[in-house]
Amino acid sequence: DQVYVGVDLGGTTIKVGLCDPQGKLLQTYEGPTGTEHGADVVLENIAQYVRKLVSESPYTWEQVAGIGAGIAGFMDIPEGFVKLSPNLGWRNVPVKKILEEKLGKTVKIDNDANVAALGEAWSGAGAGIPNVVCYTLGTGVGGGIIINGRIYQGYSGMAGELGHMIVVPDLEAIDCGCGKKGCLETVSSATGIIRMAKEAVERGEHTSLALVENIMAKDVFDAAKTGDEVSLRIINRAAMYIGKSMAAVSVVINPQRYIVGGGVSKAGDILFDAIRKYYEDSTQETAKEGVDIVPAVLGNDAGVVGAAGLNLHG
Ligand code: BGC
Ligand code: NA
Ligand code: ZN
Repeated sequence: DQVYVGVDLGGTTIKVGLCDPQGKLLQTYEGPTGTEHGADVVLENIAQYVRKLVSESPYTWEQVAGIGAGIAGFMDIPEGFVKLSPNLGWRNVPVKKILEEKLGKTVKIDNDANVAALGEAWSGAGAGIPNVVCYTLGTGVGGGIIINGRIYQGYSGMAGELGHMIVVPDLEAIDCGCGKKGCLETVSSATGIIRMAKEAVERGEHTSLALVENIMAKDVFDAAKTGDEVSLRIINRAAMYIGKSMAAVSVVINPQRYIVGGGVSKAGDILFDAIRKYYEDSTQETAKEGVDIVPAVLGNDAGVVGAAGLNLHG
Protein backbone atom coordinates (compact mmCIF):
# COMPACT_ATOMS: atom_id res chain seq x y z
CA ASP A 1 0.00 0.00 0.00
CA GLN A 2 1.12 3.51 -0.74
CA VAL A 3 0.83 6.38 1.70
CA TYR A 4 1.29 10.14 1.39
CA VAL A 5 2.92 12.52 3.84
CA GLY A 6 1.48 15.97 4.50
CA VAL A 7 3.32 18.78 6.29
CA ASP A 8 1.50 21.74 7.82
CA LEU A 9 4.11 24.37 8.55
CA GLY A 10 2.76 26.87 11.05
CA GLY A 11 4.48 29.75 12.81
CA THR A 12 4.78 27.83 16.11
CA THR A 13 4.08 24.17 15.30
CA ILE A 14 4.90 21.81 12.47
CA LYS A 15 2.31 19.09 12.10
CA VAL A 16 2.99 16.10 9.86
CA GLY A 17 0.58 13.34 8.91
CA LEU A 18 0.26 10.15 6.89
CA CYS A 19 -2.74 9.68 4.61
CA ASP A 20 -4.01 6.78 2.56
CA PRO A 21 -4.84 7.35 -1.13
CA GLN A 22 -8.47 8.15 -0.19
CA GLY A 23 -7.53 11.03 2.09
CA LYS A 24 -7.96 9.20 5.38
CA LEU A 25 -5.55 10.50 8.01
CA LEU A 26 -3.75 7.50 9.52
CA GLN A 27 -1.20 8.98 11.89
CA THR A 28 0.19 12.36 12.93
CA TYR A 29 3.22 13.77 14.71
CA GLU A 30 4.02 17.32 15.70
CA GLY A 31 6.81 19.42 17.11
CA PRO A 32 7.95 23.02 17.44
CA THR A 33 8.71 24.97 14.26
CA GLY A 34 11.77 26.76 15.60
CA THR A 35 10.96 29.85 13.55
CA GLU A 36 13.38 31.95 15.61
CA HIS A 37 16.32 29.80 14.42
CA GLY A 38 15.77 30.56 10.75
CA ALA A 39 14.79 28.65 7.63
CA ASP A 40 17.64 26.08 7.69
CA VAL A 41 16.64 24.83 11.13
CA VAL A 42 12.93 24.84 10.31
CA LEU A 43 13.49 22.76 7.17
CA GLU A 44 15.71 20.32 9.07
CA ASN A 45 12.96 20.03 11.72
CA ILE A 46 10.45 19.18 9.00
CA ALA A 47 12.73 16.44 7.66
CA GLN A 48 13.21 14.97 11.14
CA TYR A 49 9.51 15.01 12.00
CA VAL A 50 8.65 13.34 8.69
CA ARG A 51 11.21 10.55 9.28
CA LYS A 52 9.95 10.11 12.82
CA LEU A 53 6.31 9.98 11.68
CA VAL A 54 7.05 7.22 9.20
CA SER A 55 9.35 5.24 11.48
CA GLU A 56 6.71 5.23 14.25
CA SER A 57 4.02 4.10 11.81
CA PRO A 58 3.35 0.59 10.45
CA TYR A 59 4.52 1.81 7.00
CA THR A 60 7.99 1.72 5.52
CA TRP A 61 9.84 4.65 3.97
CA GLU A 62 9.50 2.88 0.59
CA GLN A 63 5.72 3.01 0.86
CA VAL A 64 5.78 6.82 0.99
CA ALA A 65 4.70 7.80 -2.54
CA GLY A 66 5.01 11.55 -2.08
CA ILE A 67 5.40 14.41 0.35
CA GLY A 68 3.53 17.72 0.33
CA ALA A 69 3.83 20.86 2.43
CA GLY A 70 1.53 23.81 3.04
CA ILE A 71 3.15 27.10 4.02
CA ALA A 72 1.60 30.47 4.93
CA GLY A 73 2.75 33.09 2.49
CA PHE A 74 3.17 34.06 -1.12
CA MET A 75 4.59 31.22 -3.15
CA ASP A 76 6.15 30.60 -6.51
CA ILE A 77 4.64 27.15 -6.82
CA PRO A 78 6.11 26.04 -10.17
CA GLU A 79 9.61 26.88 -8.89
CA GLY A 80 9.00 25.53 -5.38
CA PHE A 81 9.90 28.80 -3.66
CA VAL A 82 8.42 30.70 -0.76
CA LYS A 83 8.64 34.25 -2.10
CA LEU A 84 7.49 36.01 1.03
CA SER A 85 6.21 34.73 4.35
CA PRO A 86 5.76 37.55 6.87
CA ASN A 87 4.76 34.95 9.52
CA LEU A 88 7.96 32.95 9.20
CA GLY A 89 10.11 35.93 8.26
CA TRP A 90 11.15 34.20 5.02
CA ARG A 91 12.00 35.69 1.65
CA ASN A 92 12.93 33.56 -1.39
CA VAL A 93 13.49 30.21 0.32
CA PRO A 94 13.76 27.27 -2.14
CA VAL A 95 11.77 24.91 0.09
CA LYS A 96 11.07 22.22 -2.48
CA LYS A 97 14.71 21.77 -3.48
CA ILE A 98 16.02 21.71 0.11
CA LEU A 99 13.42 19.21 1.34
CA GLU A 100 13.92 16.96 -1.67
CA GLU A 101 17.67 16.89 -0.96
CA LYS A 102 17.07 16.07 2.69
CA LEU A 103 14.36 13.45 2.16
CA GLY A 104 15.20 11.93 -1.23
CA LYS A 105 11.57 12.00 -2.37
CA THR A 106 9.42 14.28 -4.50
CA VAL A 107 8.15 17.20 -2.45
CA LYS A 108 5.32 19.48 -3.54
CA ILE A 109 4.73 22.77 -1.79
CA ASP A 110 1.74 25.05 -1.81
CA ASN A 111 0.13 27.85 0.15
CA ASP A 112 -1.33 26.82 3.56
CA ALA A 113 -4.86 27.89 2.70
CA ASN A 114 -4.76 26.30 -0.77
CA VAL A 115 -3.76 23.08 0.92
CA ALA A 116 -6.50 23.36 3.58
CA ALA A 117 -9.00 23.95 0.76
CA LEU A 118 -7.76 20.82 -0.99
CA GLY A 119 -8.11 18.83 2.25
CA GLU A 120 -11.71 19.98 2.71
CA ALA A 121 -12.49 19.33 -0.96
CA TRP A 122 -10.91 15.88 -0.88
CA SER A 123 -12.35 14.46 2.31
CA GLY A 124 -14.11 17.25 4.21
CA ALA A 125 -16.94 19.75 3.71
CA GLY A 126 -16.45 19.80 -0.05
CA ALA A 127 -16.19 16.07 -0.70
CA GLY A 128 -17.89 15.20 -3.97
CA ILE A 129 -18.25 18.84 -5.06
CA PRO A 130 -15.87 19.74 -7.90
CA ASN A 131 -15.80 23.54 -7.53
CA VAL A 132 -15.40 25.05 -4.08
CA VAL A 133 -13.79 28.14 -2.61
CA CYS A 134 -12.47 28.02 0.92
CA TYR A 135 -11.76 30.88 3.33
CA THR A 136 -9.47 30.29 6.33
CA LEU A 137 -10.03 32.94 8.97
CA GLY A 138 -7.15 32.85 11.44
CA THR A 139 -4.25 35.15 12.25
CA GLY A 140 -4.52 36.10 8.59
CA VAL A 141 -7.24 35.45 6.05
CA GLY A 142 -6.27 32.69 3.65
CA GLY A 143 -8.11 31.39 0.63
CA GLY A 144 -8.11 28.43 -1.70
CA ILE A 145 -9.84 27.88 -5.02
CA ILE A 146 -10.61 24.31 -6.05
CA ILE A 147 -11.64 23.79 -9.65
CA ASN A 148 -12.50 20.31 -10.84
CA GLY A 149 -11.05 18.89 -7.64
CA ARG A 150 -7.70 20.61 -8.06
CA ILE A 151 -6.10 23.73 -6.63
CA TYR A 152 -6.22 26.66 -9.02
CA GLN A 153 -2.84 28.33 -8.64
CA GLY A 154 -2.94 30.99 -11.31
CA TYR A 155 0.06 32.07 -13.34
CA SER A 156 2.65 31.95 -10.55
CA GLY A 157 0.82 30.69 -7.48
CA MET A 158 -0.84 33.86 -6.25
CA ALA A 159 -4.41 32.78 -7.06
CA GLY A 160 -6.60 32.30 -4.01
CA GLU A 161 -4.97 35.01 -1.89
CA LEU A 162 -8.49 36.00 -0.89
CA GLY A 163 -7.36 37.81 2.24
CA HIS A 164 -5.72 40.47 0.10
CA MET A 165 -8.77 41.43 -1.89
CA ILE A 166 -9.21 45.13 -1.24
CA VAL A 167 -12.69 45.51 0.16
CA VAL A 168 -12.65 48.27 2.77
CA PRO A 169 -13.44 51.78 1.45
CA ASP A 170 -10.42 54.11 1.46
CA LEU A 171 -11.63 56.32 4.30
CA GLU A 172 -11.86 53.34 6.68
CA ALA A 173 -8.94 51.35 5.29
CA ILE A 174 -5.95 50.46 7.41
CA ASP A 175 -2.55 49.02 6.50
CA CYS A 176 -2.25 45.31 5.77
CA GLY A 177 0.86 43.17 6.36
CA CYS A 178 1.15 42.76 2.58
CA GLY A 179 1.97 46.44 2.11
CA LYS A 180 -1.45 47.51 0.78
CA LYS A 181 -4.43 49.06 2.55
CA GLY A 182 -7.99 47.87 3.12
CA CYS A 183 -7.48 44.13 2.54
CA LEU A 184 -10.15 41.69 3.74
CA GLU A 185 -7.57 40.36 6.22
CA THR A 186 -7.50 43.70 8.07
CA VAL A 187 -11.15 43.26 9.18
CA SER A 188 -12.04 39.57 8.97
CA SER A 189 -9.01 37.87 10.57
CA ALA A 190 -8.71 37.16 14.30
CA THR A 191 -6.09 39.91 14.33
CA GLY A 192 -8.55 42.37 12.79
CA ILE A 193 -11.33 41.41 15.20
CA ILE A 194 -9.02 41.86 18.19
CA ARG A 195 -7.86 45.23 16.87
CA MET A 196 -11.43 46.49 16.40
CA ALA A 197 -12.34 45.30 19.91
CA LYS A 198 -9.39 47.07 21.51
CA GLU A 199 -10.17 50.26 19.62
CA ALA A 200 -13.78 50.19 20.84
CA VAL A 201 -12.62 49.78 24.43
CA GLU A 202 -10.09 52.60 24.02
CA ARG A 203 -12.83 54.86 22.68
CA GLY A 204 -14.71 54.16 25.91
CA GLU A 205 -17.62 52.38 24.25
CA HIS A 206 -20.03 50.56 26.51
CA THR A 207 -18.99 46.88 26.24
CA SER A 208 -18.26 43.94 28.52
CA LEU A 209 -14.93 43.63 26.66
CA ALA A 210 -13.70 46.54 28.79
CA LEU A 211 -13.37 44.03 31.65
CA VAL A 212 -11.21 41.59 29.66
CA GLU A 213 -7.49 41.76 30.40
CA ASN A 214 -6.01 40.70 27.06
CA ILE A 215 -8.76 40.46 24.47
CA MET A 216 -8.71 37.41 22.19
CA ALA A 217 -11.08 36.74 19.27
CA LYS A 218 -12.92 34.19 21.39
CA ASP A 219 -13.74 36.85 24.01
CA VAL A 220 -15.47 38.86 21.28
CA PHE A 221 -17.52 35.79 20.20
CA ASP A 222 -18.45 35.00 23.80
CA ALA A 223 -19.51 38.59 24.49
CA ALA A 224 -21.53 38.66 21.24
CA LYS A 225 -23.39 35.52 22.36
CA THR A 226 -24.48 37.33 25.52
CA GLY A 227 -25.80 40.22 23.38
CA ASP A 228 -22.90 42.67 23.74
CA GLU A 229 -23.68 45.26 21.04
CA VAL A 230 -20.09 46.26 20.35
CA SER A 231 -19.02 42.63 19.84
CA LEU A 232 -22.00 41.96 17.60
CA ARG A 233 -21.11 44.99 15.50
CA ILE A 234 -17.49 43.85 15.13
CA ILE A 235 -18.45 40.32 14.07
CA ASN A 236 -21.04 41.75 11.72
CA ARG A 237 -18.40 43.93 10.10
CA ALA A 238 -16.01 40.98 9.70
CA ALA A 239 -18.85 38.91 8.20
CA MET A 240 -20.07 41.72 5.93
CA TYR A 241 -16.77 41.95 4.07
CA ILE A 242 -16.51 38.19 3.73
CA GLY A 243 -20.06 37.95 2.37
CA LYS A 244 -19.49 40.80 -0.07
CA SER A 245 -16.17 39.36 -1.20
CA MET A 246 -17.96 36.06 -1.88
CA ALA A 247 -20.43 37.95 -4.04
CA ALA A 248 -17.48 39.14 -6.13
CA VAL A 249 -15.96 35.66 -6.24
CA SER A 250 -19.29 34.23 -7.39
CA VAL A 251 -19.40 36.34 -10.52
CA VAL A 252 -15.77 35.52 -11.29
CA ILE A 253 -15.56 31.79 -10.50
CA ASN A 254 -19.13 30.70 -9.66
CA PRO A 255 -18.19 27.92 -7.22
CA GLN A 256 -20.98 25.68 -5.91
CA ARG A 257 -19.90 25.90 -2.28
CA TYR A 258 -18.01 28.24 0.04
CA ILE A 259 -16.28 26.60 2.98
CA VAL A 260 -15.25 28.76 5.92
CA GLY A 261 -12.69 27.46 8.44
CA GLY A 262 -10.02 28.70 10.83
CA GLY A 263 -10.32 29.91 14.42
CA VAL A 264 -12.74 32.74 13.62
CA SER A 265 -15.24 30.27 12.11
CA LYS A 266 -15.75 28.96 15.67
CA ALA A 267 -17.89 32.07 16.27
CA GLY A 268 -20.58 29.85 14.74
CA ASP A 269 -24.08 30.95 13.74
CA ILE A 270 -23.60 34.62 14.61
CA LEU A 271 -20.85 34.78 11.98
CA PHE A 272 -22.38 32.42 9.42
CA ASP A 273 -25.85 33.99 9.53
CA ALA A 274 -24.33 37.40 8.82
CA ILE A 275 -22.03 36.11 6.05
CA ARG A 276 -25.03 34.45 4.38
CA LYS A 277 -27.16 37.59 4.71
CA TYR A 278 -24.55 39.85 3.07
CA TYR A 279 -23.85 37.23 0.42
CA GLU A 280 -27.55 36.98 -0.37
CA ASP A 281 -27.97 40.75 -0.51
CA SER A 282 -24.92 41.41 -2.71
CA THR A 283 -24.84 38.49 -5.11
CA GLN A 284 -26.31 38.60 -8.56
CA GLU A 285 -29.42 36.34 -8.56
CA THR A 286 -28.24 33.91 -11.22
CA ALA A 287 -24.77 33.57 -9.70
CA LYS A 288 -26.08 32.42 -6.32
CA GLU A 289 -28.60 29.78 -7.40
CA GLY A 290 -27.82 26.47 -5.67
CA VAL A 291 -24.77 27.91 -3.90
CA ASP A 292 -24.21 27.39 -0.18
CA ILE A 293 -21.85 28.60 2.55
CA VAL A 294 -20.83 25.96 5.11
CA PRO A 295 -18.31 25.56 7.96
CA ALA A 296 -15.14 23.54 7.42
CA VAL A 297 -15.19 20.09 9.03
CA LEU A 298 -11.57 18.91 9.21
CA GLY A 299 -10.50 21.57 11.71
CA ASN A 300 -6.77 21.47 12.40
CA ASP A 301 -6.30 18.41 10.18
CA ALA A 302 -7.25 20.15 6.92
CA GLY A 303 -3.65 21.28 6.36
CA VAL A 304 -1.94 17.90 6.71
CA VAL A 305 -4.64 16.07 4.76
CA GLY A 306 -4.54 18.58 1.91
CA ALA A 307 -0.73 18.66 1.88
CA ALA A 308 -0.67 14.88 1.59
CA GLY A 309 -3.18 15.25 -1.26
CA LEU A 310 -0.86 17.55 -3.24
CA ASN A 311 0.75 14.50 -4.79
CA LEU A 312 -2.59 13.15 -5.99
CA HIS A 313 -4.68 16.25 -6.68
CA GLY A 314 -2.23 19.16 -6.48
C1 BGC B 1 -1.18 35.15 3.72
C2 BGC B 1 -1.64 33.90 3.03
C3 BGC B 1 -2.02 32.84 4.03
C4 BGC B 1 -2.99 33.38 5.04
C5 BGC B 1 -3.36 32.38 6.10
C6 BGC B 1 -2.22 35.57 4.72
O1 BGC B 1 -1.77 36.70 5.37
O2 BGC B 1 -1.01 36.15 2.75
O3 BGC B 1 -0.63 33.42 2.16
O4 BGC B 1 -2.62 31.77 3.32
O5 BGC B 1 -2.47 34.53 5.66
O6 BGC B 1 -2.25 31.90 6.78
NA1 NA C 1 -4.27 30.70 -0.96
ZN1 ZN D 1 -3.12 42.57 2.22
